[in-house]
Amino acid sequence: MTQDELKLAVAREAIKYVEEDSIVGVGTGSTANFFIDELAKMKGRIDGAVASSEATATRLKERGIRVVELNSVGELAVYVDGADEITEHLAMIKGGGGALTREKIVAAVARKFVCIADGSKLVPTLGEFPLPVEVIPMARSWVGRQMVKLGGIPRLREGFTTDNGNLIIDVSGLKILNPPELEQAINNIPGVVTVGLFAQRGADILLLGTPNGVKTYRR
Ligand code: 5RP
Repeated sequence: MTQDELKLAVAREAIKYVEEDSIVGVGTGSTANFFIDELAKMKGRIDGAVASSEATATRLKERGIRVVELNSVGELAVYVDGADEITEHLAMIKGGGGALTREKIVAAVARKFVCIADGSKLVPTLGEFPLPVEVIPMARSWVGRQMVKLGGIPRLREGFTTDNGNLIIDVSGLKILNPPELEQAINNIPGVVTVGLFAQRGADILLLGTPNGVKTYRR
């Protein structure tokens, strides 16, 4: 099976977690795009969606799904999104697409986070994928120096500005043995908007695409 076939398989499986007449939280990236296309097939049976990025909002609207502002929503039953890396304990690195801040906000509001990923994303330890950190532009160099102190190698994502008008530093060389602790430590650095570690609030369910079918992991 190709990677795209695995992404489609998990996107289809994730539709089972969508409640009728509800507003759905929708993530960003190529796997989330497959989910949006599947969600469009049931658009008459949902009230709308909250998007985690401008790109996702555009795709939802193009497919006729009503996009709702998060501020007008009390709660979300489910948030569906991909990941760059995920462990069996359902801690993740996210933000490869640069949407980590809005993703973390929408995920926080949702009762259930369903992560959809092809098998290549499952890792024993987070950190092979460079950890994205969204920073306020004036704090770029300072935050970079703090990343070096944590043992990482920071690299500015060239030519990229987030939907929030900020920058992304991608930090490689980190072997993340305690994801919630590192998430807290990086969150505490002045100038950091969001770190792409999703461990304090990880996924609740992982739908992993494998050649033998979709495997379900629960927290
Ligand atoms: C975007 C993300 C994505 O979920 C992550 O990058 C995975 O993307 P893809 O499904 O394209 O592999 O966090 O900010």
